[in-house]
Parts: sequence; structure tokens; C-alpha cells
Amino acid sequence: MRIIIINGPNLNLLGKREPGIYGNLTFEAYFKGLQKKYPNIELEYFQSNIEGELISKIQEKGFSYDGIILNAAAYTHTSVGIGDAIKSVQRPVVEVHISNVYAREKFRHQSFIAPNAYGIIAGFGMQSYELALLSFLEND
Ligand code: DQA
Repeated sequence: MRIIIINGPNLNLLGKREPGIYGNLTFEAYFKGLQKKYPNIELEYFQSNIEGELISKIQEKGFSYDGIILNAAAYTHTSVGIGDAIKSVQRPVVEVHISNVYAREKFRHQSFIAPNAYGIIAGFGMQSYELALLSFLEND
């Protein structure tokens, strides 16, 4: 099984960025642990701060990989383009957030990803990514 985790803007700063909300762990360290725990899954990771690069990566993997775990970060709440990309590809996309976006500011309650997502996981810290991964395993 091939799964890609795609992270959007500012998630390259995990570990340093607002640790009270997002924790102290870098994504690279978390990802290494995930790969170790699930050695039979081909797990890939991509991060970009640029909207078009995220769209290109969704297009590139969305017809061949078994699934996409997407934390579009701030673009979740603004990007018609990323929403359309998810509509355009064949493979399931699970929307993930580290924080519980529904317990935060109102502008974070809106998602352009959600209407076309296979499912949504938010608020479990970094574990949100693993829960998304499990959803693919359960449905395999
Ligand atoms: C986030 C929540 C978004 O509202 C925010 O812009 C992020 C991270 C999360 O993982 O909790 O950058 O997607």
C-alpha cells in the first residue's frame, strides 16, 4: 500500500511553531516513528508552503497512490484550487488537522477540503496522521 502525507504552509515549522497548539515534535521525527511502526506501508511525505505545489502533488499522486493524507493547514480555509484538485483525482483524500479547528477561531471552521474528503480527523495532535493511516488500513 502506498500512502502520501501532504502538509501545507507553516507545517515545516512543527516543533518550533506555537508549541502550545501544535506540540514540540518536528514532523520529520514523527514521520520516522510512523515509518518504523508501519514497515509494510510505503509512506511518503511532502511539504510545501506554496499552494500550486500542493495542487501539483495531489494531481501527481491522486491517480496512482492508494490514498492521500492531507493537512492543507491555512489553505484548508481558503483554497478553492486545492478543493477542486481533490475533486479531480480518483484516490481517497483524508483531511487531517493537528488541532481541533472547530474549537478555534470561526474562520477555521470553514473547509474547502471537507466536502470532497473521504473523512476528516482533527484535534488528536500528531496522532491525527496515524488515525488517518489506520482508516486506510481498515478499509483495505
Ligand atoms: C492546522 C489548522 C489550521 O487552521 C492552521 O492554519 C494550520 C494547522 C492543524 O493542523 O491544526 O496551519 O491545519
